[in-house]
Formats: sequence, C-alpha cells, structure tokens
Amino acid sequence: MVELLGISGSLRAESYCTAILKTLADSPGDMTNIRLFPLHDLPLYNEDLESLLPPAVTVLRNAIAAADGIVIVSPEYNHGMPGVLKNALDWASRPFGRAAISGRPVLAITASVAFTGGVRAHAQLNETLIAMACQLVVRPQSVVGGVHDKVTGGRLTDQPTLYFLRAGIGDLVQLVIASGAGQRAEASRRTHRGD
Ligand SMILES: Cc1cc2nc3c(=O)[nH]c(=O)nc-3n(C[C@H](O)[C@H](O)[C@H](O)COP(=O)(O)O)c2cc1C
Repeated sequence: MVELLGISGSLRAESYCTAILKTLADSPGDMTNIRLFPLHDLPLYNEDLESLLPPAVTVLRNAIAAADGIVIVSPEYNHGMPGVLKNALDWASRPFGRAAISGRPVLAITASVAFTGGVRAHAQLNETLIAMACQLVVRPQSVVGGVHDKVTGGRLTDQPTLYFLRAGIGDLVQLVIASGAGQRAEASRRTHRGD
C-alpha cells in the first residue's frame, strides 16, 4: 500500500478544498490510501516551543514521517496560500535538515471560486515546498477554477477535473515508488509500531 497524507489548506466546514481531498480519498487508486490530516489543532509557529513541542505538532510530524507522500489542496487567500497552511508547513519544516517532510513527494493542488484557480497560491506553495526540499510532482499545474460549480454535496462532481486530479495522484504514487520514499516511510511506521 502507498500511504498518502491529505492536507487541506482550509479550516472551513464546507470547504471546497476539503471536498476535493475527500473525493480523491474516496477512490485513490489501486493499492493507495489517502488519510486526511486536519490542521485545526495546530498552534501558531513559535521557535521557542521547539524544545517542548505542543502535542499537535508531534502528531503532525509523526503523520508526515509515516506517509509515503503528501497531497495538499489549498485555496488562495490574497494571492498566496492561507496562513493556516503556511503555519503547518513551517512546523513541518523543522528540525532544519532533519525534517520528515524533506525528500517527501508532494502533489500540490489549488482551488478557487475565481477562474484563476489559485495559480498564485500554487506558485507560492511550490516555492515553500522547494525550500523544504520536498520532491514536487512535476506536471501541468493542478488548479481548479470556478470550484463552486464543480463541488456538489461535499464532493468534486466535475468529471474532467476529477480525471485530471486523479492522474496527478497517479503521478504522485509513481514518484513515491521511483524515489524510494515509501521505504523510508515504512521504516518510520515500523519504528512507531515498535517492530
Ligand atoms: C481571506 C480570503 C482571501 C481570498 N483571496 C482570494 C484570492 O486572492 N484569489 C482567489 O482566487 N480567491 C480568493 N479568495 C476566495 C477563495 O478562493 C474561496 O473563498 C475558496 O472557496 C476558499 O476555499 P475553501 O472553499 O476551501 O474554504 C479569498 C477568500 C478569502 C476568505
């Protein structure tokens, strides 16, 4: 099994981004599992807390370490990624040089009610992921414009969009396999299980 961690950049209960993530998780492809990780409990980043980590941060870092790859679906706020997502990535990026997220394959998706689909947030998100030495899935930008017309009943119902995003998940899984990231995550899962 390829274990993917799904992170939504929106805390909104009726979030379109979370709806997209849930749709991908409903049917992630052969031998693939997507587990959603909500960001609601994370405190604001404060380097002073690195010596006595808030439990929610430890949970996040362990979840990333145990994941073979990550899929992020984020809205665009004022031409960038939401602070909630940047905050989570800042927590995930430490300890510097030893962060579990470094080297992890990541598929970035943005969505917006605007026709632009969050392209500016997408570019910013890519920059941040590169700074953290993540392996980005390289493919045409996965952006969803006019997302309010493509989500119904809490799920992405626009079939061409769903087909395109599922292909992105397929590329992410291929990158996990090619990079050996899955083996490193399996070692981490074994450590946590105490095998
Ligand atoms: C604070 C704020 C700023 C926003 N700025 C942008 C923006 O710069 N570009 C854009 O396309 N949409 C912008 N939007 C609209 C969001 O893309 C839209 O509300 C989206 O549905 C939010 O994602 P969610 O449904 O997952 O919560 C903004 C929304 C909020 C609340």
